[in-house]
Amino acid sequence: MAQKRVGVIGFPVEHSLSPIMHNAAFVALGMNDWLYDAMSIPPDILRLGLREPRQHGYIGINVTVPHKEAIMNFVRPDDTAKAIGAVNTVDFRTGIGTNTDAAGLLNDLAANDVKIAAARVLVLGAGGAARAAVYGLARAGATVAIVNRTMKRARRLVEQLQATAGIGGVQVMTLDAAASWGMSVIVNCTSVGLHPQITQSPWLFGVPFPAGVTVYDMVYRPANTALMQQCVAHGGRAIGGLGMLARQGAIAFELWTGVEPPIEVMMAALHAALESKGEG
Ligand code: ATR
Repeated sequence: MAQKRVGVIGFPVEHSLSPIMHNAAFVALGMNDWLYDAMSIPPDILRLGLREPRQHGYIGINVTVPHKEAIMNFVRPDDTAKAIGAVNTVDFRTGIGTNTDAAGLLNDLAANDVKIAAARVLVLGAGGAARAAVYGLARAGATVAIVNRTMKRARRLVEQLQATAGIGGVQVMTLDAAASWGMSVIVNCTSVGLHPQITQSPWLFGVPFPAGVTVYDMVYRPANTALMQQCVAHGGRAIGGLGMLARQGAIAFELWTGVEPPIEVMMAALHAALESKGEG
């Protein structure tokens, strides 16, 4: 049986949970000729790291840190990737690079019945993950505001999304202003609170926490972050980011295989992997 290969390139890539998640899906569906593996590619040989899998018959790859932006030069980015400024999924059959982060987030918010259309949504952070979130949320009809430690970076993000995707009306504000802005949803796209800095929160402890909001934390290690705990302590609802990880992967899975992804299997594989590390 000819093997159908996909994988992820990154540097380092050893900690990626994508192989576990995709291979669990292949096993569950009896897709025994498919294999997903992790390839460690240093930045200075990124072009080679892309050419080799393609020449060896890989169908596509995921792209992770630090290659997501640089790889735009070596593939044909679609409109979503251009707007987000980063590629996380490549299909070698078409040469197209896309980005499944925004759709993964929106799909997981929808799966959790979080209303986005016409809602006020506060995004914490202004890096690559935040750009994908703001893009997706604004297109889904939310009124979006951004809080970031470095305000200048947040303003640049707003300008970039205006220029690349025609997205307007995104505000940049301080955390103090955000506290009384009246959002119903907060999406954390910073790395604050990520293992092992588990006592830290992007919502600084001196600033009053809004009551009754929904927090979506892209951080999934630990499963219950300090920000999520603050939210629940103030009568809100908190959702960790594991579902987004599964769903952004599921979109790539379907793109490559044409098969509906077994999302529950993928989620369970991620849970199990984190639990075995004592971080579930
Ligand atoms: P990614 O691509 O995952 O978004 P990134 O581009 O490195 O990663 O962005 C990290 C985000 O987390 C940024 O918004 C960063 O804030 P700055 O723009 O001010 O650097 C935020 N972040 C990281 N560590 C932080 C900390 N200790 N306190 C506040 N914000 C932090």
